[in-house]
Formats: sequence, structure tokens, C-alpha cells
Amino acid sequence: MQKTILISGANSGLGLEAAKQLAKQNHEIILLCRNLEKANEAKKEIIAFSNNNKIHVYQADLSSQKSIEVAATQIKKDFQKLDVLLNNAGGVFNNFQLSVDGIEMTMANNHFNYFWLTYYLFDLLKNANGARIVNVASDSHYQAKKIDVESFYEKKGRYFVLSAYEQSKLANVLFTYTLAEKAKPFNITVNALHPGFVYTPIGNKNGNKFFGMVWNAASKLFGLTVEKGASSHIYLATSDEVKNITANYFHNCKAKKSSAISYDKNVQDLLWKESERKSGFTF
Ligand SMILES: NC(=O)c1ccc[n+]([C@@H]2O[C@H](COP(=O)([O-])OP(=O)(O)OC[C@H]3O[C@@H](n4cnc5c(N)ncnc54)[C@H](OP(=O)(O)O)[C@@H]3O)[C@@H](O)[C@H]2O)c1
Repeated sequence: MQKTILISGANSGLGLEAAKQLAKQNHEIILLCRNLEKANEAKKEIIAFSNNNKIHVYQADLSSQKSIEVAATQIKKDFQKLDVLLNNAGGVFNNFQLSVDGIEMTMANNHFNYFWLTYYLFDLLKNANGARIVNVASDSHYQAKKIDVESFYEKKGRYFVLSAYEQSKLANVLFTYTLAEKAKPFNITVNALHPGFVYTPIGNKNGNKFFGMVWNAASKLFGLTVEKGASSHIYLATSDEVKNITANYFHNCKAKKSSAISYDKNVQDLLWKESERKSGFTF
């Protein structure tokens, strides 16, 4: 069955590869990207690869609540339903900086991004028959030992790029488990995934040249190809094997245990309530 699938951060790396493969399966694809020029280039590449013209481009800065709300409002006008929401866009930030909403950039861009986009598109997902939400997380979440709400808004001591990233990816897993419970009455499944260590430009953006060079060299030498890395994106978005599976963490198209803290209901609630408080809505 042809699905309508929205992929965030679909102009590069894993998101672009997932878009190509899912377009080749003849699904209708919505690319949500921050840069229209790059998004239209990606659209051309996807059409050339898949021979599928049902590719639509929307623009949003996914670190901004307002920008996401505006894009989602337009998407809700243009589409009747959404079968799959693939929350994929993410980044690494070498320095402490605040988003337009006053949230530390890693947390804004990697967690609040998924929270807001899902919230603003939830009605469209409810309109589908058995929609799926897929959250791209990372095994780096195993390193995060807590959710530190103060660090969402202020610099506490020295800022460590990897610690910030790890916390944001733990947030992706915690968010997945809470949302899965809330989405059950609407027949919507929610799962998270780790793509593996994949050769993409993610570590070579946002500043530090040295970090970028190390990332590029290491991921080129030891990383997976995007074709391999995106396999769980595609599996969770479309495979019948997982149509009734929810609240799981996948790697290589297989469910596995996420970190102990990710199952802690108190930590899940802490993140959820803080996300709602900061956003000014109740999901
Ligand atoms: N690569 C890995 O080894 C690895 C491992 C574990 C998890 N992941 C996760 O996989 C996902 C995809 O990353 P990738 O490796 O494919 O990196 P990538 O090639 O840099 O792709 C990230 C995508 O997200 C977009 N994006 C980032 N911030 C955005 C914003 N504020 N607004 C709109 N779009 C934004 C980027 O747009 P631009 O092109 O404009 O920057 C790009 O399209 C991320 O969630 C990442 O955390 C990756």
C-alpha cells in the first residue's frame, strides 16, 4: 500500500538515503528541510533515482518551535493524512549556544524538534489507519546518565559537545517510550532506532574544524555506508513485520534493549513535563 511519509532532514546523509529508498518503493514523500535550495537538489536526486514524482518539499528550521508550527500548518492544509513521520534531522554543536526559543541548541535541534513536529502533525497521523512514528536516536544515548533540565537553558561549567549530544539522544528514546503510550489509543506505533556509525557530514557542521576533520576521517574509514545505515529507517517505516510493534529500540532492523535509564518512568515524565512546559502546550 502506498504511504505518505514525511522525513525531516531529508536533503543529506541518512534522511536523503531513506527518502530515495522509500520513493523507490513508490511511496509519496514529504521532505522537510531548512534550506530550500538543498531540498530541491535532493528532490531531483530522489526523482532521478526512483522515477517517482510524488516528492514534496517544505521548509523549516527544526530548532525553532514557530518555524515547525508554520510548516506543519501548511502540510496539514495540503495533506489529509500522514502514514509515517520519520523524525531524522539532528546535529552536533561544538559550542554552547541558545536557539531562538532560548534552548541549548543540541537539545532544541535534536529533542524539541521531534517533540514539536510530532505534536503539530499528530492530527494528520491520527487520520491514517495505523500510522507510524520513527525517531532516529543513537547508541550514544547509553552514555547519558541523566536528564539535566537546567542544562537545557544554561551553561553549567564547561560545555562538552558529546555529553550534550548523548543527552539529546537519550531524550529521543525517552520521548519514544512516553509517546508510544499516548499514541496507542490512536493506533499509532512509535519506535526509535540507532543507524550505526555512518559516514555522513553530521560531525563536520557547526564550527570546529578539528572535530570535523576527525569525524570525516574516522567515519569514512570505519563508518557504514548510508545504504546500510538507513536500513532500519526503511524497515520501521514500511515493513509489515513491525506494523504492530511499538515502544522498541532498533538497530540493524532488530529490537534491542536501550539504556536502563531510558525505561525509568520518572525520567520519562521529567522530560515530557518539561517539554510541555517549555512549549506552552499539553500534548
Ligand atoms: N551518522 C551517524 O553515524 C549517526 C549515528 C547515530 C545517529 N545519527 C542520527 O542520524 C540522524 C541523521 O544524521 P546524519 O548522520 O544523516 O547527518 P546529516 O547528513 O548531517 O543529516 C542531518 C539532516 O538534518 C538536517 N538538519 C539539522 N538541523 C536542522 C534544522 N535545525 N532544521 C532543519 N534541518 C536540520 C540537516 O540539514 P542541513 O543539510 O541543512 O545541515 C540534514 O538534512 C541524526 O538524528 C543523527 O543524530 C547519525
